[in-house]
Amino acid sequence: MDTRNVNCVTVQTPAKINLILDVQGKRPDGYHELRSLVTPISLCDTVRIEPTGNGIDVRMQPAGLPSRAEVAGIEPQENLAMRAAEGFFGCHGLAAGCRILIRKRIPVGAGLGGGSADAAGVLLGLNALFKTPLSHERLALIAAGLGSDVPPLLWGGPVWMSGRGERVTPVSAKHDARWQPLWLVLLNPGFSIPTTDIYRRWIPSLTLAAQNYKKAESDLIAGNVHGLCGCLRNSLQKVAFAKYPALELLAGALREAGARGVLLAGSGGTVFGIAATRAEAVRVRRDAVARLDPVVWSRIAKTMPDGVMVAHGPLEARV
Ligand code: C5P
Repeated sequence: MDTRNVNCVTVQTPAKINLILDVQGKRPDGYHELRSLVTPISLCDTVRIEPTGNGIDVRMQPAGLPSRAEVAGIEPQENLAMRAAEGFFGCHGLAAGCRILIRKRIPVGAGLGGGSADAAGVLLGLNALFKTPLSHERLALIAAGLGSDVPPLLWGGPVWMSGRGERVTPVSAKHDARWQPLWLVLLNPGFSIPTTDIYRRWIPSLTLAAQNYKKAESDLIAGNVHGLCGCLRNSLQKVAFAKYPALELLAGALREAGARGVLLAGSGGTVFGIAATRAEAVRVRRDAVARLDPVVWSRIAKTMPDGVMVAHGPLEARV
């Protein structure tokens, strides 16, 4: 059935984690040179887009987020979705508008790329709604202007990102017969972390030793828990833990609860632990939360071989 005439799209926009985040130096433009292995995970927001005659209206509907983060971070996230829509219409020259409703499940200011995922979802959703007028290259250009995490999330699967974030090399996971998910436990402290401040605290002596990137990639594809846990690294973790000791408490609780590997997500504040199976992830989550505050935000998720999904009807949950 050709569903392209149906007048509304629903987009599932997955959060991301960086299994490797190597900061390689400060650039003259103030950004940092990165080399990062980024993978989408099954924690998703849902973005519903309806065409309208003109104007762009963005609404958020928080669903089970840590309460302080709801208040602190919604506005810039709304802006990123708004800017994505403005970028799309501006680039295409379409005399049209849209109404966007974002059901937020990904905590904001949390290192999980929630706002960037929504922006990528808006670009892909609008492109589907208006019958694919823009090439992927043009969408990628708009994405790069929105933020460093938008291009990797636009690609739709695990990727290497480099440069400021705008250079993306896909890891072809979706059609790889070896693909196995990794199970994750996510803990969030309930407050947003300013990305700029964490990057500002990075100093060259925190540069990590060279590593076997190819091995990390094949361990991710094959869901090789032991191998991948040996590759986990994040250049920003030390400064983030020093500035926000609560994050180290979350990481400690995950380790004590038996997570096989633990790492800060992006510039924080979510911390994730890796488990060998879903049942183990359930146990690790329960035991880690028991060591902390029972109301701490926690979720189980898994790595995904694909990313943003656009449908002209309802979408099924991914976990
Ligand atoms: O690109 P984006 O707007 O998401 O970045 C937010 C902030 O994170 C930037 O203003 C910058 O301070 C920092 N950043 C950086 N180097 C990168 C990506 C982000 O310094 N590669």
